[in-house]
Amino acid sequence: MREEALILAIESSCDETAASVVRGGREVLSNVISSQIALHTLYGGVVPEIASRKHIEKINQVIEEALQEAGVSLQDLTAIAVTYGPGLVGALLVGVSAAKAISFATGIPLIGVHHIEGHISANYIENKELEPPFVCLVASGGHSHLVVVKDYGAYEIIGRTRDDAAGEAFDKVARAIGLGYPGGPKIDKLSKEGNPDAILFPRAKVAENEYDFSFSGLKSAVLNYLNGCQMRGESVCKADVAASFQKAVIDVLVEHSIHGVKAYGFDKFAIAGGVASNSSLRAAFKESCEAENIKFYYPSPVFCTDNAAMIGVAGYYEFIKGVRSGYDLNAVPNLRLGER
Ligand code: KG4
Ligand code: ZN
Repeated sequence: MREEALILAIESSCDETAASVVRGGREVLSNVISSQIALHTLYGGVVPEIASRKHIEKINQVIEEALQEAGVSLQDLTAIAVTYGPGLVGALLVGVSAAKAISFATGIPLIGVHHIEGHISANYIENKELEPPFVCLVASGGHSHLVVVKDYGAYEIIGRTRDDAAGEAFDKVARAIGLGYPGGPKIDKLSKEGNPDAILFPRAKVAENEYDFSFSGLKSAVLNYLNGCQMRGESVCKADVAASFQKAVIDVLVEHSIHGVKAYGFDKFAIAGGVASNSSLRAAFKESCEAENIKFYYPSPVFCTDNAAMIGVAGYYEFIKGVRSGYDLNAVPNLRLGER
């Protein structure tokens, strides 16, 4: 039964309308993602109202495609998993409503899934041998968390950002140097042409908790640098700014994470979330983990950014624990990890 469990998963917390069918917890039969990036690029960031409307237009089509690609019908499903928080409330509501409607019409059990739990669970898809406990860095557009994954569905957050998330810093700096939205992939690409040691940007430490992050000072330092250049009439090498900024983010993420893994006595470390698809960050973690004898896990880029397969995996582990949601399941925009 467990090996055969077929989970239909839905994700609509931000600007991707996504559906996926996952078998036996870790086998992705389909992973359909309809991205709204082109639409939001016009405005330099995600416009929540537009995101919700687009989700409504796309959701049924995306679900149908996911079922078709997987070669399964609604009657074959074991459960339906859906992201119910955190995220944009209007966007979340579209996925939650669709999942509830399907569950109500078919009688298939419904499971509400935490978006960050989904990101962490993306690591299980391609690393079949990975089992908790391990430490995971979740770095996305809305979150930067260092998490001890004690067991499936059991988490302890040991570090978090005090201000901006890592992805948010990427997006803001990209906008400041005229790269547009979303900034992460663009800075990643441009950095390859720049010198990461050209400009020394600050690496913030948070006095109260050595595992916490702070990126707003770094963002301000980049803006000050750009303003200074402009006032002095100096030209800016965007590639150097991108590479130096990116290095400052990566240095902090790597240092805090490796320190956390060692201090808590683990030998397994994983990364997750949109920023985890950054090529230099992956390379830096590979190198540091190798040097420290830590086994390093990371999802393919398509499973780092928002997708429904990761929600299907997390949903499966909730399902086998016996978690079921009622038809009163609601979108919870600020849902905390580990809460139900
Ligand atoms: O996980 P995600 O798709 O959505 C959230 O849950 O927030 O993460 C999106 C974030 C954006 O801030 C985007 O700029 C960043 O991930 N991102 C990257 C890269 N690809 C996406 N940041 C750095 N390098 C990348 N290659
Ligand atoms: Zn996400």
